[in-house]
Amino acid sequence: MEFLKQLSAAQWMLTLLVVVLLAGLAFFVGVTIIERRQAQAVAGMAPHASPAHSRVAVVYFSRSRNTGLAARHVATRLGAAIHQLEVPEYELGLAGLTRSAFAANARRNDPAALPDTTPRQLNLTPFDTVWLGSPIWFYSPAPPIWAFVEHNRFDGQHVVLFNTFNSNLGADQIAAFKAKVLARGARSFEHRQVLRGRMTRQLTPEEMLGVIDSEWFGLTPDKHARSSTVKPP
Ligand SMILES: Cc1cc2nc3c(=O)[nH]c(=O)nc-3n(C[C@H](O)[C@H](O)[C@H](O)COP(=O)(O)O)c2cc1C
Repeated sequence: MEFLKQLSAAQWMLTLLVVVLLAGLAFFVGVTIIERRQAQAVAGMAPHASPAHSRVAVVYFSRSRNTGLAARHVATRLGAAIHQLEVPEYELGLAGLTRSAFAANARRNDPAALPDTTPRQLNLTPFDTVWLGSPIWFYSPAPPIWAFVEHNRFDGQHVVLFNTFNSNLGADQIAAFKAKVLARGARSFEHRQVLRGRMTRQLTPEEMLGVIDSEWFGLTPDKHARSSTVKPP
């Protein structure tokens, strides 16, 4: 321990910086491992094929597949057509996680900073109701769902935004999303959310579907379901 006393202020600062960087890296690696496990666990759950004719569409973006599971469940409950938005640069893994975080931050600073989604546009004219699903990134729906709203119209339609998230979302961001959807022609707007909990103590996929059934559809509550009522951050 004698050598510690001999460290200069600059050496202490450098050591602290290295420790902080390593802790940050460990956090990101941990998140990535959990995300991959979750994505594998829910990938095959609640399969849904779009029916030939439906007045309801579910359009969603999902990075680690939880919102995707919610979307398939909603589509099954409503007999809806379903469409996934893809953004390859936000794929699972460290690089995709970093790009997702930068993209979320960029959009919050500049609402015009939006990614390319595939598909970019959909023919939504057959539908009376459009459900739009997304995870929350930095308190706001993730950039891909904002991009979809930017490039599509919802004339005369009822739009339901639904979000999965871990802990906090911003009421101001949901209000801004509503304003955007109404400006793109929607006649009405609703918001649904499911609070999954922080990473080490999250709802299981089955619990999440139980919360959706009870809180969004008023179906018999799953005895394991926890409430998703949240306070604004
Ligand atoms: C870049 C990034 C930012 C996030 N920011 C938030 C946040 O601000 N609030 C929150 O509760 N969860 C946040 N999360 C967690 C996700 O919203 C949550 O895990 C969500 O259910 C993931 O959905 P998905 O599996 O469909 O991608 C964030 C996740 C990522 C990758």
